[in-house]
Amino acid sequence: MTQTLVISALKGGTGKSTTTANLGRALRRRGYRVGLLDVDATAPTLHKALGLDIPPWEKKTAHETIIPTVVEDGLYLVTLAGLFSEKPAVLWKEPELVETMHALVTDLIEWPEIDYLLIDSPPNSSGYMQMLFEFLGKSLTGVVLVFQPTDIAAADLLRSFDFMVAKELTLIGLIANQAYCVAPNGEWFWPYLSPQVDLQSFCAEVKVNYLGAIPLTPNQEYINERFDGIAEKIRTVKPTVFRPGKIDMAFRKIKRKGLTGMIKKVGIEYAKRQSNSS
Ligand SMILES: Nc1ncnc2c1ncn2[C@@H]1O[C@H](COP(=O)(O)OP(=O)(O)O)[C@@H](O)[C@H]1O
Ligand SMILES: [Mg+2]
Repeated sequence: MTQTLVISALKGGTGKSTTTANLGRALRRRGYRVGLLDVDATAPTLHKALGLDIPPWEKKTAHETIIPTVVEDGLYLVTLAGLFSEKPAVLWKEPELVETMHALVTDLIEWPEIDYLLIDSPPNSSGYMQMLFEFLGKSLTGVVLVFQPTDIAAADLLRSFDFMVAKELTLIGLIANQAYCVAPNGEWFWPYLSPQVDLQSFCAEVKVNYLGAIPLTPNQEYINERFDGIAEKIRTVKPTVFRPGKIDMAFRKIKRKGLTGMIKKVGIEYAKRQSNSS
């Protein structure tokens, strides 16, 4: 049976599309057949993360179904970007989007045999995204959250948890992306103005899986290595099911108190060192 994962964050630019592409390739390296689906109506960039131009939606003349683009043997892609040659992204109407989501997860796409379906999602909790989760229903294996470990991103991370609780979703785990930066001399450093939040401690506190950290780097080989580990974890970890009444007390406490206890001083210290030396 196909395992369906939604790659999500209620924040733009955290690395959802990059993660979908890299996780897809990592699962493929492990021998799994993978379908990739980009449903980000505002910024569908998954094809770019895969190094492709916008692939056209290939429609069968008889049933008007979509045949996915073959990225490589065993790795397939369908993206909403395929529609944008016909109309500007901003002119989607909500009912139209809901209808498209329904078609995408039911009978519009003729996927070849796939072991994993990875869905790249927009950073919003709008009606069509809520409906996407409704349509997926029990066929959804779980959500993979991708966040930068900054205090600014953490506010949206808590909102993502709220969304998951409200929709009673299952969480596979959290990836800390752009978690640190590797300088050309090999030194690791903190690349943000905002303070660092320890997402590993956060995950331990709220009892969800921490899947690992990915650095901010242009080194694809290094990224591949990290995703090999993450792909293995995704296959084997026990997901967390969010159910009303079973919401972890720790999450409520963190929501009440904020994340102050998990803010590391690394970022600030690094910035200080820099300003002292200049
Ligand atoms: N680990 C990383 N290292 C280097 N660049 C990254 C990394 N993760 C994301 N990026 C870059 O950050 C930008 C935003 O990433 P993207 O995957 O498009 O985010 P999202 O889909 O969440 O909006 C892109 O330019 C992408 O190439
Ligand atoms: Mg994206």
